[in-house]
Amino acid sequence: MKDRVYIFDTTLRDGEQSPGISLNVREKLEVAEELARLGVDVIEAGFPITSPGDFEAVSTIARQVKGPVVAGLARAVDADIDRAWEAVKEAERPRIHAFIACSDIHIERKLKKSKDDVLKMAATAVKRAKGYTPDVEFSPEDATRADFEYLAKMIGVAIEAGATVINVPDTVGYALPQEFGELIANLCSEIPALGDSVVLSVHCHNDLGLAVANSLAAIENGAHQIECTINGLGERAGNAALEEVAMILDTRARLLGKTTGIVTEEINRASKLVSSLTGYNVQFNKSIVGRNAFAHSSGIHTDGMLKDRDTYEIMSPNKIGLAESQLILGKTSGRHAFRAHLADMDYRLGEDELDRAFAQFKELADKKAEITNDDLEAIVAEEVRTVAETYALEYLEINSATGSTPSATVKLRRGDEVLSGTAAGDGPVDAACQAISDIAASPATLMSYNVRAITGSLDAQGDVTINLDVGGRNFLGRGISTDIVEASAKAYLNAINKAVGREADDAGRADIDREL
Ligand code: KIV
Ligand code: ZN
Repeated sequence: MKDRVYIFDTTLRDGEQSPGISLNVREKLEVAEELARLGVDVIEAGFPITSPGDFEAVSTIARQVKGPVVAGLARAVDADIDRAWEAVKEAERPRIHAFIACSDIHIERKLKKSKDDVLKMAATAVKRAKGYTPDVEFSPEDATRADFEYLAKMIGVAIEAGATVINVPDTVGYALPQEFGELIANLCSEIPALGDSVVLSVHCHNDLGLAVANSLAAIENGAHQIECTINGLGERAGNAALEEVAMILDTRARLLGKTTGIVTEEINRASKLVSSLTGYNVQFNKSIVGRNAFAHSSGIHTDGMLKDRDTYEIMSPNKIGLAESQLILGKTSGRHAFRAHLADMDYRLGEDELDRAFAQFKELADKKAEITNDDLEAIVAEEVRTVAETYALEYLEINSATGSTPSATVKLRRGDEVLSGTAAGDGPVDAACQAISDIAASPATLMSYNVRAITGSLDAQGDVTINLDVGGRNFLGRGISTDIVEASAKAYLNAINKAVGREADDAGRADIDREL
C-alpha cells in the first residue's frame, strides 16, 4: 500500500543510547508492550551483542510481545548477526537490522578499511542474516554525508544480497529537508526497487532540530518507513519524535495523503511511561506531549476557545489520549473499586502488585484531598515497577532549622536486620541521602536530581528521580511522596537497590564500541 507509512520505533535501541538511560529487562518489556498497544509496525528492541542484559531484553520482547515486527541491531560482522538472530528468533515476525558505515570519513577514520572491503562486508552481513530470516533491514550509516554513487552502490549490493528494507540514516543530523528529500528521490530513480519491492526507510537525528521535517520530506519523496522514538529520545539531540510524526500525518492527512497504524489515543500514555522510566522529563512546551501543548492561557485565546475550540486548537487533546485529570477515588474507596479504576485505566495488576499499590493509595488518601488519574499512574509506576528491595526504608527523621546544619536519621531494613545511621548534609535531602549511602556502604556520585509535582495543587505528590553513578554505571531511582525529602530518600534508595542487585548477567557487559 503506497500511502501507508510504517512506523519503526527505536526507543529501546537508539533512545536507550541517550546518556544516563539504562533500563532493565522488565522496564524494556513494559515499554515494548506499550509500543505494541500504540500500534507501531516495528519495535527495534535493542542491540543484542552489546551486553547480556540487552540480549535478554531483546529475546524476552521477541518471545512475549505480539503484533509488531521485533528487530535486533547488528554491525556487519558475523558475531553480531548471529547474536541478533539468537535474540529475535522467537518473535512472531523477527527482523535483523544490519548496518555499516558508508561515508568516506567513517570508512577512512573509523573503520580504516577500503571501500571495496566495506561493500563486501555489507553483502556478507545481509546474506548471513538472510540465511536466518527473510526480513532483513540494511542501513548505510552516515548516508547523508556519503558520496552518492558509493551510497547507491552499497544499497544495490545490499538489495542483491537479499535486504528487504533499506534504511537511509542521517546519522549526524546534518541534512536539510529539501536536500534530504532530493536524496531520497534520487535514490528512488537510481534504484527502482526502492519503495517498490524493497521498503525505503529513513532514520533522522535531531542535531539541527530537523529530524521530523527531514522524515516528512523523505515520505513526500518516496520513503515508506520512518524510524523514530517516543519523546524524540536518542543519541545526542535525539531522533525524530514518534508522536510528532504520527500527529502530523494524522492532522494534515488531507494534504499529505498518508496513513499509519498508530493508535493516537495511546500517545500520551506512551510518552509518560517512557519519561517516567528513563527519568527524561518532557519539556513543558514540547509539541504534542508537553504539559503546555494543549494549555491556553492568554485572555484572547481562552475567550476564543470558550466560543469554539477550533479557534485555537488544531487537534483535540482526546486524540492523543489526554483527558482532564479527574477526581476518581477517595479515602473510603475499597480494594474492589480501586482495582476497577485501574482496569479502566488499562492497568491489570497481579494480586501482589495490587496489594502494594492499594496500600500506597490508602496512605496517600490520608494525606491528600484529591486522588487523580495522574496520582494513580505514579503509584502504579512506583509500587509495581519495584526492583528487588535489598534495603527498605523503615524510618526517616530530619532535623533542620534556620542557621543550623541539617541532619537525618535513617533506618533501613535488610531482611530481618534493621540498620540505622545519622548523617549531616548541605540540606535535608543531602543529609538523608548521605545517611542511606553510609548504611548501605555504597559510595555513589549524584549525577542528576529532578523533582516534579505530579498534580498542580499544594498538597501534590513530589515525584523525584535521581541518577547515581555507582562504580562507573548509571542507576536511575524514583520515589514519590507528599513529602519531598521522603520522596528523595526513596528515589535514592531505589537507585542504590538497583545498583546492589544489578542483574548478574549485566556484570559482564561486553566492552564494545557501539560505533553509532
Ligand atoms: O544513526 C544511525 O545511523 C543509526 C543506525 C544504526 C541506523 O542509528
Ligand atoms: Zn541513530
